[in-house]
Amino acid sequence: MSKPKLFSTHVLFEEPRRKLAEHFEVEYWTGEERPARAEVLKRVSGKDALICLLTEKIDGELLDAAGPNLRIVANVAVGFDNIDVPACTERKVAVTNTPGVLDETTADFAWTLLMAVARRLIEGDRMARSGAWTKWNLDQLCGTDVWGKTLGIIGLGRIGRAVARRAAGFRMRIIYNSTTRAAAEIEKELNAEYMSRDAVLEQSDFISLHVPLNAATRGLVGPAELAKMKRTAFLINTTRGPVVQEAALIDALERGQIAGAALDVFEREPFIPDGLRRDNVVLAPHLGSASVETRTRMALIAVENAIALFAGNRPPTILNPEALR
Ligand code: DGY
Repeated sequence: MSKPKLFSTHVLFEEPRRKLAEHFEVEYWTGEERPARAEVLKRVSGKDALICLLTEKIDGELLDAAGPNLRIVANVAVGFDNIDVPACTERKVAVTNTPGVLDETTADFAWTLLMAVARRLIEGDRMARSGAWTKWNLDQLCGTDVWGKTLGIIGLGRIGRAVARRAAGFRMRIIYNSTTRAAAEIEKELNAEYMSRDAVLEQSDFISLHVPLNAATRGLVGPAELAKMKRTAFLINTTRGPVVQEAALIDALERGQIAGAALDVFEREPFIPDGLRRDNVVLAPHLGSASVETRTRMALIAVENAIALFAGNRPPTILNPEALR
């Protein structure tokens, strides 16, 4: 019996590739750059399965280009704002993501950014590397303490909690706001205090965002929210760029309304506005989950979802079970 046909918009890693080969006739996008839209539309045509990254927009046009054989879109990311899930469900196309495996890695990175911006690591690296460091000085590149400060978490899901857990070693006060308040045992374990979003904005020294991007969270941090933050506070974003109104953030930074920001995500990636290229802003190219171990696990989950579906099983991390045929 012939194997189902699968298009993967990335070559993935060795282990997931080996697994895929056992179950599918696979076509990979092997280009260095992300494939152009037209290329994806062409290659997905007639396929039974698609493995994609967050750089691919999965909408009605793509589903039409794929044709009626397509049964699954397996996204190699936990966020799935690149996918029109209702359009997939309507066509009985299953959609899966990769929850659970990147929480700790992303939390590590939120902390990497927080520490880097607080202690001016990037400026220091630049000075050391360029040869501009000519002598030690008492007030050279003095940053701000992290330990003992107040960490505000907006969105206490799996990643938010992993970020909070790491704060204990820094003897920080942890306050949070989330659409649903965490259970008392979780609050106790994390030593986290639930507050209104405004109170979190007003009281935190570091605010780390961990809400998913959806209609309710798009533009969540705008001029009014930034105005509530302390002038000494920093904003850390490792979730999705459009959760923050970038123009408002640039304005707040220019006016010294907040002390700085550390950003892994942007409104129109990979575009980064010049207004964010400042010494008090640490910039990263969407690296939150980027460890070899985690990215491999993410790819494996996508592969396992595709295999499960064609074996007649429920894909383990399906987002729209109502699409199962
Ligand atoms: C995700 O999984 O949504 C990340 O942003 C990419 O790793």
